[in-house]
Amino acid sequence: MRVILQPTPALTWVAIGGVLDLYVFLGPDPQSVIRQYLQVIGYPMMPPYWSLGFHLCRWGYTTTITTRHVAQRMHNAKFPMDVQWNDLDYADKRRVFTFDPWRFGDLPEMVEEFHKRGMKYILILHHPPGTYSPFDDGLKRDVFIKNATGRILIGKVWPGPTAFPDFTNPETRCWWEDCIRDFYSKVPVDGLWIDMNEPASFVQGSVEGCPDSDLENPPYTPRVVGGQLNSGTICMSAQQKLSTHYNLHNIYGLTEAYATHSALMKVRGKRPFVLSRSSFPGIGHFSGVWTGDVRSDWEQLRYSIPAVLQFSLFGVPLVGADICGFGGNTTEELCVRWMQLGAFYPFMRNHNDKPNAPQEPYVFGQKAQAAMRSALNLRYSLLPFLYTLFHHAHTSADTVARPLFMEFPTDPNCQTIDRQFLWGSSLLISPVLEQGACSPVCLWGLFHLCFGQYLLLPAPLDTINIHVRDGHIIPQQEPALTTAASRRNPFFLTVALSEGGWAWGDLFWDDGDSLETFEMRNYCYVIFIAGQVGKRRAIFALELMRQSFAFYCTST
Ligand code: GLC
Repeated sequence: MRVILQPTPALTWVAIGGVLDLYVFLGPDPQSVIRQYLQVIGYPMMPPYWSLGFHLCRWGYTTTITTRHVAQRMHNAKFPMDVQWNDLDYADKRRVFTFDPWRFGDLPEMVEEFHKRGMKYILILHHPPGTYSPFDDGLKRDVFIKNATGRILIGKVWPGPTAFPDFTNPETRCWWEDCIRDFYSKVPVDGLWIDMNEPASFVQGSVEGCPDSDLENPPYTPRVVGGQLNSGTICMSAQQKLSTHYNLHNIYGLTEAYATHSALMKVRGKRPFVLSRSSFPGIGHFSGVWTGDVRSDWEQLRYSIPAVLQFSLFGVPLVGADICGFGGNTTEELCVRWMQLGAFYPFMRNHNDKPNAPQEPYVFGQKAQAAMRSALNLRYSLLPFLYTLFHHAHTSADTVARPLFMEFPTDPNCQTIDRQFLWGSSLLISPVLEQGACSPVCLWGLFHLCFGQYLLLPAPLDTINIHVRDGHIIPQQEPALTTAASRRNPFFLTVALSEGGWAWGDLFWDDGDSLETFEMRNYCYVIFIAGQVGKRRAIFALELMRQSFAFYCTST
């Protein structure tokens, strides 16, 4: 569909057809609009704690030796990191649910080693190509999308000719779960990355083209890449269990995310982690999203902020862009600034395309490494706070990364700010988004602190400016090289008293990985209040457990 913003103010909607349900959410404030919207599409899932740590990926870790080496170098250089990833290098002839016997023959052992070190492991899934057991089984169980004449539709993706599972078919979801269970029994992955699920195809429609019909060429076509609805994807006349692909195209990724989430939940019995490229309203209930193949340049660094903030509004709080950029070579300065900003993406992953120069933190000079290490340590120290924000997203539809206008809806200055953002309502993040911003005077930007005040702040290469809002308390924990280790470290609080001398904050804490801890009341929720008691400043911690009893622990 096409949506045109009119100056009046008015909106014009032009759609290719189908059923159009319009909801109007009255708010009145932006946060209420989002809450009302999420009451319709579903609240976001609670992510596992470890998934808020740092993730490292690239296309081109071509063997288990290379992959192990990467994780080891990160560890040796003391960069916090929770999750090592593999792109499609691991798969035998790029066929999903297999692993290359020569280059990745000891993949199961590698994953076990990571686990022993408190790390996690994730790999990519695509669609299956012809003739090998998951495909043959799928053929028998009739799980693939068909063309208009009832034969299996074959497109082209990374492995070559490829069939597309129809996730609207319940049998496909069972087959997908069986494939995941079988693969998991060999390679105990901690999460799955579902890619190319728009669904993307390198041929138009199918290897045999598409029939000439109204579904392929409706009377009205909005401006789409390639000019036709079936450009870069499968035929609109393709048949799925629920309907034609014409009616289902936009929810392909959503249906795959749902199937993958529920398979992982059943197979692992723990909180699922799924990362999807394609998205649709409601996907935040099942999956996180990354913003696709961004270029390694300053403009894309800047655009990543509105992209992340938009997904917050769409109910997908677990979102981030490929840090240091995916396409093209990064530079040291860009990568430092991107790691600093990325330390405040709710989902933090550095990912790179195959032909590019490496961009793991340890490949850069000592100064750059120190800056990246300090950004990572800062993030790890803030994870109890970030996790608490996710709890509020999961239970109350609050946003995690938050645009300023949501927090200060009556301040017109805040409406257009897309170079700064908040975590929750209390942490303001003001990243450097321009090259050379620190030379020659090491000052950058006009930071708008949203009280009509503009400040010029120093931001040398090792600095990302963050501010704690007055009246707020941020729960933190000493960082470590993994969240498994940092979760055992001492907690501490950063307290920013209001003018009147008060502050409050909270902490949601559970085991970080079990299913439905909130719903089963298997958690601890602490409210901190700082204030003046007699002549002394005191901080009270009010612990509410299982909602049935409450007590005070106090400290000064
Ligand atoms: C797609 C993904 C990218 C991935 C590549 C190879 O381009 O967006 O992240 O590295 O496929 O699997």
